[in-house]
Amino acid sequence: MDTEIRPCSSLSICLLFFLFSSLNIQNCVATDNISSGQSLSGNQTIVSKEGNFVLGFFTPGNSRNYYVGIWYKKISVRTVIWVANRATPITNTSSAEFKISEDGKLVLLNSSKILFWSSNSTPSTSDSTVAVLLDTGNLVIRNGSNTTIWQSFDHPTDTQMPGGWIGVNKITGEFQSITSWENPENPAPGLFSQSMDPGGSNQYVLLWNGSEIYWRSGLWNGQYFTTVPFSRGSIPFNVTFVDNKQQKYIMYTILDSSFITRSVIGSSGLLTQLYWVDSTQEWQSIFSQPSAQFYVYSLCGNFGICDLKSSDNICRCSYGFEPASMKEWELKVWSSGCVRKTSLRCSNKSSAGGEEDGFLEMTNMRLPASPRNLLGGSAEDCEKACLNNCSCNAYAYVSGCSIWTGDIRNLQQLYDGDSEAGTLYLRLAASDFPGSSRSHKLVIYRTLSVIGGVLGILCVLGLIWTFQRRKRIRMARQVEGSLIQFTYGDLQHVTKNFSEKLGSGGFGPVFKGTLSDSTEVAVKKLEGLRQGEKQFRTEVSTLGVIQHVNVVRLRGFCSKGSKRLLVYEYMSGGSLDSHLFQNNSTVLDWKMRYQIILGIARGLAYLHEKCRECIIHCDVKPDNVLVDRDFCAKVADFGMAKLMGRDFSRVLTTMRGTIGYLAPEWISGLPITSKVDVYSFGMMLFELISGERNTTHSADGSKIFYPSLAATKVIEGDILSLLDHRLNGAADIEELTRVCRVACWCIQDSEAHRPTMGQVVQILEGVMEVSVPPLPRALQLLMED
Ligand SMILES: *[C@@H]1O[C@H](CO)[C@@H](O)[C@H](O)[C@H]1NC(C)=O
Ligand SMILES: *[C@@H]1O[C@H](CO)[C@@H](O)[C@H](O)[C@H]1NC(C)=O
Ligand SMILES: *[C@@H]1O[C@H](CO)[C@@H](O)[C@H](O)[C@H]1NC(C)=O
Ligand SMILES: *[C@@H]1O[C@H](CO)[C@@H](O)[C@H](O)[C@H]1NC(C)=O
Ligand SMILES: *[C@@H]1O[C@H](CO)[C@@H](O)[C@H](O)[C@H]1NC(C)=O
Ligand SMILES: *[C@@H]1O[C@H](CO)[C@@H](O)[C@H](O)[C@H]1NC(C)=O
Ligand SMILES: *[C@@H]1O[C@H](CO)[C@@H](O)[C@H](O)[C@H]1NC(C)=O
Ligand SMILES: *[C@@H]1O[C@H](CO)[C@@H](O)[C@H](O)[C@H]1NC(C)=O
Ligand SMILES: *[C@@H]1O[C@H](CO)[C@@H](O)[C@H](O)[C@H]1NC(C)=O
Ligand SMILES: *[C@@H]1O[C@H](CO)[C@@H](O)[C@H](O)[C@H]1NC(C)=O
Repeated sequence: MDTEIRPCSSLSICLLFFLFSSLNIQNCVATDNISSGQSLSGNQTIVSKEGNFVLGFFTPGNSRNYYVGIWYKKISVRTVIWVANRATPITNTSSAEFKISEDGKLVLLNSSKILFWSSNSTPSTSDSTVAVLLDTGNLVIRNGSNTTIWQSFDHPTDTQMPGGWIGVNKITGEFQSITSWENPENPAPGLFSQSMDPGGSNQYVLLWNGSEIYWRSGLWNGQYFTTVPFSRGSIPFNVTFVDNKQQKYIMYTILDSSFITRSVIGSSGLLTQLYWVDSTQEWQSIFSQPSAQFYVYSLCGNFGICDLKSSDNICRCSYGFEPASMKEWELKVWSSGCVRKTSLRCSNKSSAGGEEDGFLEMTNMRLPASPRNLLGGSAEDCEKACLNNCSCNAYAYVSGCSIWTGDIRNLQQLYDGDSEAGTLYLRLAASDFPGSSRSHKLVIYRTLSVIGGVLGILCVLGLIWTFQRRKRIRMARQVEGSLIQFTYGDLQHVTKNFSEKLGSGGFGPVFKGTLSDSTEVAVKKLEGLRQGEKQFRTEVSTLGVIQHVNVVRLRGFCSKGSKRLLVYEYMSGGSLDSHLFQNNSTVLDWKMRYQIILGIARGLAYLHEKCRECIIHCDVKPDNVLVDRDFCAKVADFGMAKLMGRDFSRVLTTMRGTIGYLAPEWISGLPITSKVDVYSFGMMLFELISGERNTTHSADGSKIFYPSLAATKVIEGDILSLLDHRLNGAADIEELTRVCRVACWCIQDSEAHRPTMGQVVQILEGVMEVSVPPLPRALQLLMED
């Protein structure tokens, strides 16, 4: 018998070893199957024919438990795609057995021959039954007539592989879904799953605890699910939806077999399509559903609060509560939620004589869904109604009484000015109140007298503050690194209460201001920033050290509550787009344009290569280039990607003015590198050459995308015809040729073909030669349309 079992270390060094059990090993050739009489134990594995996948025992993370699973062989990060005994781990593999049983099923036994897992497949004669691991990651059991009687693709865990399916058997009514791991160290079924719509419509949904739908794919329209972008764009997928008499399912296949991808539902409820990037040796997300984590139902679990502005953890427990599982919270899986530190008096019989439970006032909360609304009565009555029912955990009084019984989910911290913000009163045991155990006082805190007192104190504080403020503006300001830290009041004063607006970018309006030493500044009010204060300060201080003659200098900032402002040097010349595209402005001559181009290139090269941390601008366009009195160009608005964090690409891709400058990576989901700036820079060069927006050119009434035309002309060598006609051909032909060729190289489809900004500078300085570029394929396609 030619037998299996190839123990392989991660270095793929094949070791020979002999089993103490019934097996005899003759050689070290990998096998892809387990047939009757053979079994896996210890560190033995089987490997699929082409060596794509391995099946064997594994322990996830720091766990001490063993599971039988399938993972990629060629990938350095062990990534498990299927688990057999996901909820029934074994603790010792040395004489455990994974084998074909006498009735032809695949089973897992521990050393005392106790059954831990079974394929539960149709019985067959064991001596002709074989389990084979295929190169798709599918484990199949075939009987004597070579019929597949069971396959792991019919019993997926948390991963849908290319070729695998998710669906429903219309005859048995059985759903085939994927369900998240409980946490990254425990493959037991967690709370989140992806399934066909239990309501029967032709779409798939994400579910919490098998009941609560928190995301829908949209109906199948014949080509794709309406809210899911795949099957379009450059991602090599083919998604199919099959609906016949027996079953209804979705499946995807990859068109390029070298593309390694999987779809997985994570422990915190996101369904993510990932692909393997060989160069960086990591999994990259192509897209996730839902689009933001906080749309996941009960993301923070019972009594957990979701806080999008928190810098370290999106979830925290309500006051008086603690994580139900500290271990899971440390793994950033919060759905197990929070539990009371002290049980309520009403539910603790032994504390009959203790203090009454109280209510903690929580302001600016999004109130939980589906309250029980009580008719009539005052706020006091509402509080009493809640106090008198032991299962009531919170109430709110907004023109009526609402109470919540049982576990409370989906609490969200909102901030001043949010129209949905309300005040929730959360029931706590007396001893859990902040500061002391004087619960009665806290219950009464809401009375008018106290509110009056608080207002009084606020008034006094306000007066003190007003006096202080005047002093502070004149006094030395706090300085963080080389940056000045302003108070919001300072900036109101400096900008005359934000009266002179200079413009408004995608991230907020910009106002002109004058400091007390009469230096002029531009103050940008950032909008839609969800970052915590600490992280904002960190990012800002890294931007503060950036100093280059072609980069607009950041002079200071303000971070107060939810307000975030940046203070920049003021550029009297305004933005490049106003000089290029406005009819009333004087026409920039070629020499000036060349200086501006060189300046921008140097500024970007500095941001990419010379700073301590590489800064990708991500939004290079004429509107973000400012010029001073002498027409020296400076790059503005850098570092927004860092400040905006994960919101950035959403803001960027929804900003209309930006679209024409965006590199294909933004849309295809490929990793963003500094080459996206090179692409945008290239697009901008065409505008500097022609003096017109790339998209507004038209010939005989029809719209032409100028870069397509330009790219062709560059290749044909007909360069002068591209020049802004207002210049009447007055340009240095050699310089113009260089700029045209560089522009065309910069907008190549593949980022690898684009030059770096450092190389661009060298070409423009005449240090490096530039050859005739190929026609970018994307433009070619555009022209064929
Ligand atoms: C496999 O296990 C055996 C016995 O437990 C051990 O001697 C051997 O080194 C292991 N091989 C690898 C590659 O880990
Ligand atoms: C099982 O693996 C052995 C060794 O690689 C091979 O010779 C045999 O053909 C395989 N059997 C099946 C059914 O694939
Ligand atoms: C596992 O079982 C083997 C044999 O049954 C025994 O020698 C070994 O000590 C056990 N290992 C552990 C960690 O319990
Ligand atoms: C096998 O599993 C059973 C049931 O969990 C357990 O009682 C027994 O101790 C296990 N045997 C070994 C050797 O671990
Ligand atoms: C294999 O399974 C098929 C379908 O269940 C059955 O028709 C066939 O008789 C089986 N063959 C053997 C050898 O058990
Ligand atoms: C069994 O079926 C598989 C796939 O259906 C095929 O590749 C294989 O050659 C068959 N084996 C035999 C012995 O017929
Ligand atoms: C999930 O639902 C089951 C009943 O279907 C319930 O017993 C269980 O407590 C629920 N889990 C959570 C975390 O609420
Ligand atoms: C996508 O899959 C369907 C069904 O498997 C097939 O008919 C179609 O040709 C495939 N399309 C491409 C582009 O491969
Ligand atoms: C119940 O109350 C008693 C007395 O106040 C206290 O010692 C005990 O810890 C409480 N039990 C729980 C579960 O909180
Ligand atoms: C408390 O509220 C629950 C849930 O609404 C309700 O079923 C129960 O009857 C109430 N108990 C009392 C004592 O009112």
